[in-house]
Amino acid sequence: MATDTATAAIDDYLAQHESKGLLRLITCGSVDDGKSTLLGRLLYDTKLLFDDQLATLEGDSQRHGTQNGELDFALLVDGLAAEREQGITIDVAYRFFDTDQRKFIVADCPGHEQYTRNMATGASTAELAVVLIDARRGLLTQTRRHSYICALLGIRHVLLAVNKMDLVDYDEDVFSGILADYRKLADQLGIDHVTAIPVSALTGENVSSHSKAMAWYSGPSLLEHLESVQIERAENALGFRMPVQWVCRPDQNFRGYAGKVAAGSIRTGDEVVALPGGTRSRIARIVTADGDLDVARSGDAITVTLDDERDISRGDIIAATASPPQVADQFAAHLLWMDDKALLPGRPYWLKIGTRTVSAQVTEIKHKIDVNTQDELAAKRLELNEVGVANISLDHAIAFEVYTDCPELGGFILIDRQTNATVAAGALDFALRRADNIHWQHTEVDRSARARIKGQDPACLWFTGLSGSGKSTVANLVEKRLHAMGYHTTMLDGDNVRHGLNRDLGFTDEDRVENIRRVAEVAKLMTDAGLIVLVSFISPFRDERRMARELFPQGHFHEVFVDTPLAICEQRDPKGLYAKARAGELHNFTGIDSPYETPEHPEVHLHAGETPPDVLAQRVIDDLIGSA
Ligand code: ADX
Repeated sequence: MATDTATAAIDDYLAQHESKGLLRLITCGSVDDGKSTLLGRLLYDTKLLFDDQLATLEGDSQRHGTQNGELDFALLVDGLAAEREQGITIDVAYRFFDTDQRKFIVADCPGHEQYTRNMATGASTAELAVVLIDARRGLLTQTRRHSYICALLGIRHVLLAVNKMDLVDYDEDVFSGILADYRKLADQLGIDHVTAIPVSALTGENVSSHSKAMAWYSGPSLLEHLESVQIERAENALGFRMPVQWVCRPDQNFRGYAGKVAAGSIRTGDEVVALPGGTRSRIARIVTADGDLDVARSGDAITVTLDDERDISRGDIIAATASPPQVADQFAAHLLWMDDKALLPGRPYWLKIGTRTVSAQVTEIKHKIDVNTQDELAAKRLELNEVGVANISLDHAIAFEVYTDCPELGGFILIDRQTNATVAAGALDFALRRADNIHWQHTEVDRSARARIKGQDPACLWFTGLSGSGKSTVANLVEKRLHAMGYHTTMLDGDNVRHGLNRDLGFTDEDRVENIRRVAEVAKLMTDAGLIVLVSFISPFRDERRMARELFPQGHFHEVFVDTPLAICEQRDPKGLYAKARAGELHNFTGIDSPYETPEHPEVHLHAGETPPDVLAQRVIDDLIGSA
């Protein structure tokens, strides 16, 4: 009997803990504000420290402690972080603790200015931010910066912990003044819920117990607030949305769409639409590992089957027909740049949103934002850790939500197509409608009709290589021979095009990206006219050469790498530019102080330093005619 009771009690306990809610939070503030001390205090007060950690802490506090033999909690947290970071760099440390009421996951991010991206990583999963302020110093630049990033990433709840109250004689006026300042900031940033608590992380006052010295404060302790705060989720106001993670087809008789419900709820029998395609159907079954459900809600992992077979694929969003998400391919968005290489407008990146990945270009940076002051500044590029507002254009339409309504369907990352590194985090602000009224015009005489009358297959011969490598020389010879053979050709040469169409562009990375984007589009128009187009540009970046390639049908783009060693180009120096660059009179010169990324898989690789131009030209022609 006794054993049964004990077992039941344990079961009860486990059930209670299992069903406890989870709060994800982020702590913001620099080390000086007492962040480590506060975290250490919370872990200690919730009895989460193992005995051996406690023993170490007591020893360390005696040895290095700055707190006169008292436990120095900052040492504990910093010590754990250092341990964890050995060997690998961890951007964000996650800590777990729980009380009888709740489980907590705390993202603890470095406070230094240069770590914006780390903070954003932590903030992106948090529902509440604990913003620490040193009562003696009030709001600092960092407070503004951290609050800005939290707001950008959709955090609407701030616990303002005004720390070190013991050092300002527990003065209520100091606390009220700081709260008034912060409320102004929160209003500007759209942070709706601010709860301020005067604390001393060091003495523990108002952390988990109440402070006698601050009788004027009658609100909850910090831990009480964390245990009881109710976070309302914006996505609860939305209808059902589920990005399809994968299509499950174990056999001919079952076709299910698996994913996690991002917003709203769904019942069997409900009508749904799959976006961006727009096919409609009804929910037949909601399948889970624990059996079928009648209803599924936000956060549930489910597989749905539909009344009839539908062509829905991974990355689509299944949504309630009554209030579907919007579909668009151009957006205004906030971007946080996280890569050492700057963002270059015009360059194609992968954009991953929900379970979908599409190709995307930033078409225009509207401005960047000084996150310390919220000032808008003019910008042509975004550097590491900078935040900006930009227009983005995708090669396919997507279904989406505005980020603040539903972070899962409005938050995205940009991925470098060469390295696969995540280079930016972004938040969709709204769809740009300007493309809605521009439709493709059907033309009666099309590309193949134009080509047929010329008796040829249009193609693009793309010559890339250093300045002075001999691109133009070889391209000229190729054109001359093709012309003599009766082909219809045209030539786009960097130096010439830069006198006209691209006369507004210089030689910065972003200008070169735009230079190539324009000439690639022009080359495409020329092939649409039925021509064989020879393009002779340095085109130093792989990403843009790939972008050009992707504009043409398979087999119609021939990358010709005119591979002449830098030393030979420099020795030839036909325009005297290398001499100027070496003398420091010309900057951003390719091969000298601006990179040239060699082609990895060119159709034709010409070792142009060693072989006469007419032999090289013939190889290009053989490749072109051989492939036709
Ligand atoms: S690209 O890099 O943007 O593709 P593009 O082929 O249009 O360059 O122009 C290169 C030509 O511009 C060179 O052949 C050279 O004559 C001239 N030029 C002037 N300044 C530079 C520079 N800083 N770097 C490279 N080429 C330059």
